[in-house]
Amino acid sequence: MADEIKNIDYEQGLPGAIDLHDSVKRENPLSQGGEGTVGLTVMVIGALILILGGGHLFSSSNGFKSSIYISENYQPEPRPSLGGDESAAEQVAWIEDWMSDGKKVYNNCIACHQASGLGIPGQFPPLVGSEWVDQGTSRLGAIMLHGINGPFKVAGQTYNQLMPAWNNLSDEKIAQVVTYIRREFGSLQEGDDGVVTTEMIKAAREQFGSHSGPYTEAELLAIPADEDLPGSRVDLETGEPLSEG
Ligand code: HEC
Repeated sequence: MADEIKNIDYEQGLPGAIDLHDSVKRENPLSQGGEGTVGLTVMVIGALILILGGGHLFSSSNGFKSSIYISENYQPEPRPSLGGDESAAEQVAWIEDWMSDGKKVYNNCIACHQASGLGIPGQFPPLVGSEWVDQGTSRLGAIMLHGINGPFKVAGQTYNQLMPAWNNLSDEKIAQVVTYIRREFGSLQEGDDGVVTTEMIKAAREQFGSHSGPYTEAELLAIPADEDLPGSRVDLETGEPLSEG
């Protein structure tokens, strides 16, 4: 039967369809993806490589600690700039340090003037909204060194207690706390950065040193309201004196 059909194809001079299929059937079929099995040996070898290799990495890598892989004085390349002044972003400006030191000295004042600088109504005057804080630094220098004996008017209210003298603090600490209260609580005049330097407090000691006992209101009012302690202003980034004097 099959032969007959073969012959018919042959007679027609065409390659027999069955001949073609016969030759294809003789070949080993190609294995299709996903078929077939992985030999046990291959699996065992693979597992051994994973176990031994992993063990070797574990025992010789020291946990991939960066201290082993990065040499001790390695300096990373600076990151690419996104614009702006990088040095300012990296190092803390002088004024930040000066203010945080001033805030520490201000701990001496909190009991009366409060952390908020608002004082206690009727007892201790506010530093916020006080003309004594906002204006020139000469009066503040005098107040800090010798204190005040009331009655004493601040922002229209009269207080009648004793503001202690702080002349046992160093010039630097006094300068820091006065800077702190001026910048933190004051409403400063235009162009006034609020900074008081050690040099300025030193000058205040020379100027007011001979005064004995706390000031009265009349004595403080005799110092011009806008008078500043002598001394050059400083660069807020570096703390270095500005050349303009
Ligand atoms: C024991 C309470 C007390 C302490 C502590 C104290 N003060 Fe005063 N301060 C007063 C009183 C009270 C007055 C008002 C004058 C008066 O009644 O004698 C005053 C007035 C002032 C004034 C002028 C008025 C005003 O409110 O602006 C300044 C400035 C000032 N103090 C700053 C300071 C600073 C800075 C400290 C800390 C280093 C400090 N005081 C610590 C009680 C105190």
